Amino acid sequence: MARRKKIYEGKAKILYEGPEPGTFVQYFKDDATAYNAEKRDVIEGKGVLNNRLSEFFMTGLNHIGVPTHFLKRINMREQLIRSVEIIPLEVIVRNFAAGTISKRLGLEEGTALPRPIVEFCYKDDALGDPLVSEEHIIAFGWASQQDMDDMVALALRVNDYMSGLMYGVGIKLVDFKIEIGRVWEGDYQRLIIADEISPDSCRLWDIETGQKLDKDVFRRDLGNLTDAYTEVARRLGVMPANA
Ligand code: C5P
Repeated sequence: MARRKKIYEGKAKILYEGPEPGTFVQYFKDDATAYNAEKRDVIEGKGVLNNRLSEFFMTGLNHIGVPTHFLKRINMREQLIRSVEIIPLEVIVRNFAAGTISKRLGLEEGTALPRPIVEFCYKDDALGDPLVSEEHIIAFGWASQQDMDDMVALALRVNDYMSGLMYGVGIKLVDFKIEIGRVWEGDYQRLIIADEISPDSCRLWDIETGQKLDKDVFRRDLGNLTDAYTEVARRLGVMPANA
C-alpha cells in the first residue's frame, strides 16, 4: 500500500493524511519519553497496547455521549480519527495528589484531593508545557470563556467514566491528561476529545497494593512498562490487537 502523507510527527505518535477529507490516520509508536524528552527509550509493544487501549476508552466515551475523534481502529498500530483543530492546552484532571501537584504544593503522593481539580498547561515543548490559568487562556485567545466551560465539563465527564471503569477492575484513577479539539458542524463549533487516552497519559494505581500501572513505571524506573500496560489491558478484557 502506498504510504500516506505525513502531517505531523510527535514524541509517541505520527499523524498521516486520512483516506477521506476530515480524517487522519493516527499511528502509535513504541517511543517513550519523559521529563520533556530528557529521558527516552523504545519500549517494544507499547504502541500496540496504547492503540488498543485508546480505542477501548474512546469507544466507551462515544457510546455514553462524550464525543471523541476516534472513528475506528485500522490495524495494530493505526486508528482512523476525525481531524480536529487542537486547542493548544493539556487538560489535566486530578483525583489524588501525585507528580507535579505534589511537588508544587508539597502534598504527599496519594493524598485524596477535596474534589477533582482541573488544570490547564500550555502545549509548548520548548517551554516545558507550563501551567496556565483561565486568565492566560482567554487573554491570549487560546480558548473562549464558553470553551473553558465546555472543556471543564468534558474533562469531568471523562473523569467520571474513567474512574468508574478503573474502579471496576481494582485500579484507582489518580489523574490523567486529555487534549481537546474543535470540529465545525455547519456554523457550529463543537469540542471533542482528541489525541489518546492510555496509560501513557493517566496515573493508574492498583487499589490494593498501590502498584503503579502507568508511565511512571518508565519515568521512575520501576520495572517493565509493557507488563504494566498489559496488566491494565488484561483486567479490562482488552485483547491485544491482532489485526
Ligand atoms: O506530571 P503531572 O503530575 O503534571 O501529570 C499529570 C497527569 O498528566 C499524569 O497522568 C501524566 O501522565 C499526564 N501528562 C501527560 N502528558 C504531559 C504531562 C502530563 O500525559 N505532557
